[in-house]
Amino acid sequence: MAKAKLAVLISGRGSNLQSLIDAAADPDYPAEISLVISNRPKAAGLARATKAGITQTTIDHKDFQTREDFEAALDDALRLAKVDYVCLAGFMRMLTPNFVNDWRGRLINIHPSLLPAFKGMHVHERMIDAGIKLAGCTVHFVSAEVDAGPIIGQAAIPVLPGDTADTLADRILQQEHKLYPACIRLLAETKARLSGAVVLYDSSVIASGDLSNPPTE
Ligand code: GRF
Repeated sequence: MAKAKLAVLISGRGSNLQSLIDAAADPDYPAEISLVISNRPKAAGLARATKAGITQTTIDHKDFQTREDFEAALDDALRLAKVDYVCLAGFMRMLTPNFVNDWRGRLINIHPSLLPAFKGMHVHERMIDAGIKLAGCTVHFVSAEVDAGPIIGQAAIPVLPGDTADTLADRILQQEHKLYPACIRLLAETKARLSGAVVLYDSSVIASGDLSNPPTE
């Protein structure tokens, strides 16, 4: 079966991009990264794409008068590369409902909380302040509302005594790096599909009981 083609959109360090690069290095992985796009010319993640020999481009939002113009350039680049899925990985631009609708079912994001809890910014600090006992991350299809949309997968971890926003962020990030490639695998293998407002798994996807669904190892 032909591999699914991914575009990965970044704004910063790109550690989730790296996890997808690493996963795609396995010949058996069912997806490949065709294109990396950053909206910031200095995003550290761009060097990761260069190192892996992946086509990369910067589409700097500051070069455009309007959000729509910026998104038109983004859309052109994505269509030219004929990508199947667009993976947001620390991409720090809000996308308009038009763009989101055009890419419905193909636009994916990762967020460092168990959605629908803790949408938005400063998530780790807010989780520590709230005293929650289970944290985690979510991979989801993007909808017009920020940090919402059909959930593809989630992984949970305990919040430990003495955790700070930073230590918690580090441990959630380790889960992110496993969950994102696992979710893209599910989609590429058509073992998960969008059904209205939710994502349904094929019966072959068996939860392992270790607080990650889909299982990551
Ligand atoms: C991750 O925590 C991701 O969940 C959030 O932004 C961060 C990006 O980190 N959306 P990185 O650039 O992938 O290292």
